Amino acid sequence: MRCAVVSTRLDLRRYLGTASRQIGDRIEIVDHRPKSLDKDVRLAVAWHPPDDAFEHYPNLQAVCSIGAGVDNIIACPSLRPDIDVIRVVDPAQAQMMSGFVTWHVIWHQRRFRSYLDQQRDRIWQRVPQRAAQDVPVAILGYGEIGQRVAADLAALGFSVMVWSRSAKLTPPCIRGFHGQAGLNAMLGETEVLVNLLPLTPETQGILNRERFGRMRRGSYLIQVGRGEHLVDEDLLAALESGQLDGAALDVFATEPLAAEHPFWSHPKIVITPHDACEVRIEAVADTLIATADAIRIGQRPPFAIDRDRGY
Ligand code: NDP
Ligand code: OXD
Repeated sequence: MRCAVVSTRLDLRRYLGTASRQIGDRIEIVDHRPKSLDKDVRLAVAWHPPDDAFEHYPNLQAVCSIGAGVDNIIACPSLRPDIDVIRVVDPAQAQMMSGFVTWHVIWHQRRFRSYLDQQRDRIWQRVPQRAAQDVPVAILGYGEIGQRVAADLAALGFSVMVWSRSAKLTPPCIRGFHGQAGLNAMLGETEVLVNLLPLTPETQGILNRERFGRMRRGSYLIQVGRGEHLVDEDLLAALESGQLDGAALDVFATEPLAAEHPFWSHPKIVITPHDACEVRIEAVADTLIATADAIRIGQRPPFAIDRDRGY
């Protein structure tokens, strides 16, 4: 099966080359050629495709992401509604994300920024400690990654709440919320807010002044979803007023983050370059192979997202 590699941001051909043995000759990888029509391409692998990318493939049936998120593919104007969009599900990625989020939760719980400040001034002074159970952590999104993060934080003793679109059965140590009323109720008890939502029209701008205002004073934000979830100026205002005490930002509306952006020099913000975790190339290759196999036998590929929901 012929698969086109399409990206404005990454050298996907080189990236997939590291899995060439795994992919073998079951999939023929071809470069995206902007000016030609290729009727034999039935599969594509994409990350930030150019606007007209999919016009060149009249028989395209599925587009695979190389990550958990598919928003950059869905946003492509030439993606026809009948084309399946496939995400990657990689348990190792969820585990890596869990470590990243846990580190930030503990950074806030144990007030490590205060220790760094004290060390700079050679101050030997204990900082009041709080038990994990006294730090309520709320996770927006209880999907493949949110579930792993919630389970790990609960195992460490944190008081964990999760929010999803549909009602979920959760283990006794995790409290589930859903819908708008559920979100408001959850935020009212929140001290650390972790964003693990996909970007859709419903979730865009969800991290805003109104939501921050509902949280405990001195809360902490861990933003690992998508940059467009956050209203930047509302975060700066909440940090300024003390409503939020800090934020870990891994994703941004424009990446790389512009050198002049005020986030860079803010003393209460920790920045990482969309690096909270990544999918392993083996998982991407497995997804491509499973998608090609499904297309061959006329089945819907596993991990195809719901195009109506957008995730
Ligand atoms: P999933 O699709 O498995 O889970 C998404 C969760 O979000 C589900 O629980 C879903 O609810 C919930 N959700 C979606 N829309 C709404 C809504 N309108 N209201 C309430 N809940 C909603 O995604 P993953 O867990 O795999 O990944 C989540 C996101 O994390 C990715 O889309 C990406 O944006 C981000 N990410 C960031 C990375 C990074 O390096 N920074 C790496 C990987 C992912 P329901 O269960 O009811 O459907
Ligand atoms: C993402 C990923 O979706 O890295 O951001 O998987």
